[in-house]
Parts: sequence; C-alpha cells; structure tokens
Amino acid sequence: MSKPLKGKVAVVTGASRGLGRAIVAHLAELGADTVLIARDQNLLDEVAAAMKTESGRVLTISCDVSDVEQVKQATAKIVSDMGRVDILVNNVGIPAPRTFEETSISDWDTVIGVNLNAAFYMTHSLWGALIDSGAGYVVNIAGTAGLRGGGSPAYGATKFGLSGLNFAIAAAGKDHNLRSTILYPGGMDTGWRGAPIGVKPASETMSPDEVARFIGNLVTSPTEFVVNEAVLNPIAQPFM
Ligand SMILES: NC(=O)c1ccc[n+]([C@@H]2O[C@H](COP(=O)([O-])OP(=O)(O)OC[C@H]3O[C@@H](n4cnc5c(N)ncnc54)[C@H](OP(=O)(O)O)[C@@H]3O)[C@@H](O)[C@H]2O)c1
Repeated sequence: MSKPLKGKVAVVTGASRGLGRAIVAHLAELGADTVLIARDQNLLDEVAAAMKTESGRVLTISCDVSDVEQVKQATAKIVSDMGRVDILVNNVGIPAPRTFEETSISDWDTVIGVNLNAAFYMTHSLWGALIDSGAGYVVNIAGTAGLRGGGSPAYGATKFGLSGLNFAIAAAGKDHNLRSTILYPGGMDTGWRGAPIGVKPASETMSPDEVARFIGNLVTSPTEFVVNEAVLNPIAQPFM
C-alpha cells in the first residue's frame, strides 16, 4: 500500500473501539503517525499494540474529551510529543435516551458534553497546529440523526450542532488551506447500543473498516477542493 500520509500526524477521538479504532488503523496503514484518545488506557494500549505502523509512532492518551481541562492537557502533550497535527477526527459519540420524556437534564448535559462540546474543545485546542500544518483536515462524525428531526432529542441535537460547527470550521479554515468534512453515517456494525456485531447482512449495516477507508480517501484527496458533507448508508436502507 502507498503511504500518502507519511510524515503526517492524525488525532482520532474515541479510538479504542468501533469506528475510531478502524480509522486509526487505516490512517496508520496510509503512513500516518497516530494519536489515539479515549478514556480506557488499557484498551488504548491494546489497540496500539495491535496496529501495523511503519514509523511506530503511536501515542495513546486517556482523556475524557468532554472535560476541557483534560483536553487542554492532552492536546498540549500531542503537540509537544508529535511536533505537528495534520488531521483531527472528532469521532467520539455516545447514545442518548430515545424519547423526550426519558431524557433527564443530566442526560442532556452529558450527551452535549461528549458529542458536541468535545469536538469544539479538540478543534479549538489544536487549531494552531492544524493551521501550521499548511493542509490541515478536520473530519466530524455525525450520523443520519444530524439530518432529520425526531428520534433521540439529545443525540439529534448534538449531531445537528456538529453540522453547524463543521461549517464554521470550514469557513474559518479556508484561508489557511484547512478543510473540514462532516459525515452522516447510518448504521455501522460497531455494537452500538449493545447490538450484536457480525449478525446483520452487509447490505443492512456498514463495516467500520469500509467507512474508515472512505475517510482515508477524503484526507488524501487533492487539496484544491473539499467534500463539505457526505451521507453514508447501507444499501438496503438508503434513506435512513
Ligand atoms: N455505530 C453506529 O451505528 C453509528 C451510526 C451513526 C453515527 N455513529 C457515530 O459514529 C461515532 C462512533 O461510533 P461507534 O459506534 O464507533 O462508537 P463506540 O463503538 O461506542 O465507541 C465509542 C468510543 O468513544 C470513546 N468515548 C466515549 N466517551 C468518551 C469520552 N467522554 N471521552 C473520550 N472518549 C470517549 C470510547 O472509549 P472509552 O469508553 O474508553 O472512553 C470508544 O473508544 C459516534 O460519533 C457515533 O455517534 C455511529
């Protein structure tokens, strides 16, 4: 495999499982040095040990990305240890109660913190490094809940909010050659909400590895244009 990301540094939140784990593995295959962020340090270390990297430069950081002080410490360590940041994938997301009646104030605050505030904290804290890269890229992982009303109020609100943040990043970044894309994936085979993995046919759920490959294509695409947003769905559920 060619190594178009050789010498570049990619930071991925929620990298210990699911889509985030698939993204770091693929970006490392493309040659990137990677930074893996999640709360469970042991799991992060297992993921890092299993990764095939050419440079061997993998940094794991235990951080609750909804806590701005932890994010400031983590991002300072990233810049000092890795020296640069070229790609940031704001992937972290947690599910929320499905109905308005079930959603407590505490649920609301937690989900806004993890799914929305964290993306701003991470992007804001790494902004200087992303600009200095000269060709920075921010990928924000939303979900089809960010395109339609209804469904879980807190979850949907965060994914709509990410859409606004994504376009703000694109507007602020354009004069610095910094690109930003928001992805709206439908169902992925990650065990989301405790769903069993590997049970649904491929036409009904997306492999996180395939979605990670799509992200690899985005961040290695020509810098003269930007994919602002993309909706990805299993072929059997094209309008989720
Ligand atoms: N799976 C789907 O069907 C689906 C569909 C549409 C959109 N999405 C979106 O895709 C993204 C990835 O989903 P996924 O299914 O891969 O999720 P997942 O398997 O549940 O993984 C979530 C990751 O986020 C980390 N995390 C959770 N809370 C955190 C916190 N406060 N600080 C730092 N890390 C935290 C987890 O590690 P720790 O617990 O160790 O922190 C884990 O690494 C999310 O934004 C989700 O909303 C998923």
